[in-house]
Amino acid sequence: MNDTPVSHAESISAMYDQSTAFFLEALGGSIHYGYWPDGPDNGSMVEASRRMTALMIEKLGVTAGQSVLDIGCGAGRPAVELAMATDARVTGVTISPEQVRVATELAAREGLAGTVRFQRADAIDLPFAGRSFDGAWLFESLLHMPDPEHVLRQTARVLRPGARVVISNVVLRGPLSPADEELLATFGELVRAPSIVPLAAYPELLARSGLTLRESLDISEHSVRGTYESCRDAAEKLLQTVDGGAADPAVVDLLKRTRDVAVRFTGGTRIGYAVLVATKA
Ligand SMILES: C[S@@+](CC[C@H](N)C(=O)[O-])C[C@H]1O[C@@H](n2cnc3c(N)ncnc32)[C@H](O)[C@@H]1O
Repeated sequence: MNDTPVSHAESISAMYDQSTAFFLEALGGSIHYGYWPDGPDNGSMVEASRRMTALMIEKLGVTAGQSVLDIGCGAGRPAVELAMATDARVTGVTISPEQVRVATELAAREGLAGTVRFQRADAIDLPFAGRSFDGAWLFESLLHMPDPEHVLRQTARVLRPGARVVISNVVLRGPLSPADEELLATFGELVRAPSIVPLAAYPELLARSGLTLRESLDISEHSVRGTYESCRDAAEKLLQTVDGGAADPAVVDLLKRTRDVAVRFTGGTRIGYAVLVATKA
């Protein structure tokens, strides 16, 4: 009998080790929401994903030769795009060994092995000296952290004074209806996201972590619907291709739950999405 409790970090690592390929397919090559400035009916998920990364790069504002920490780097596409756009040196950390492998291969394929590197690390305890980075981003990773304030404090610790941190994250936009409360709980359990907080809570959360909020951009109307339509369609497509009889019932169940959650997000919700820019004092 094995009754060793699985830690939250281990459970996230296992989820991404197994599901990174699905997320990349469903979300257009990275593992974050898309951005449709002209509404979700204009353009593909791949284009919207690239636009979201471009928005993050613009907000980070780093220049050639500067060093950036990508906390929760996924399969590496955002770090590679950041390095290509700015000539900054990027270090990406993720809790998933599979993502380190895929991301490292991507950087090598793009000829960036010297400037972009990836390693497994837990954001709870970043293995870097204080004041060692000129910028950082948490590109849709903070939602996974059981104690976001602690992780933001870790982030502030490794940044040089005046450096910028850009956060993109799922946020709450005002009081939730009972249906939204239920969706939040189901979504949180599905993707292991225990710490989705109101957008309005960020100024204090950041201040308690040694960071000053400079800009808060609620982009829900330009990101939520298109992203979940893409997710819904990817899950549906996979469900149609898996052989009902032979497929692992756990996989079928997970795909159905993913599709059902995605459908609920496309119907309108106060669980939104935002980009925040802060600086270290
Ligand atoms: C939604 S994905 C975003 C990936 C990537 N930033 C992107 O935009 O494609 C969340 C990422 O956070 C990472 N993550 C979650 N908890 C973590 C932790 N405690 N320490 C480091 N990375 C973590 C996951 O492994 C995953 O790479």
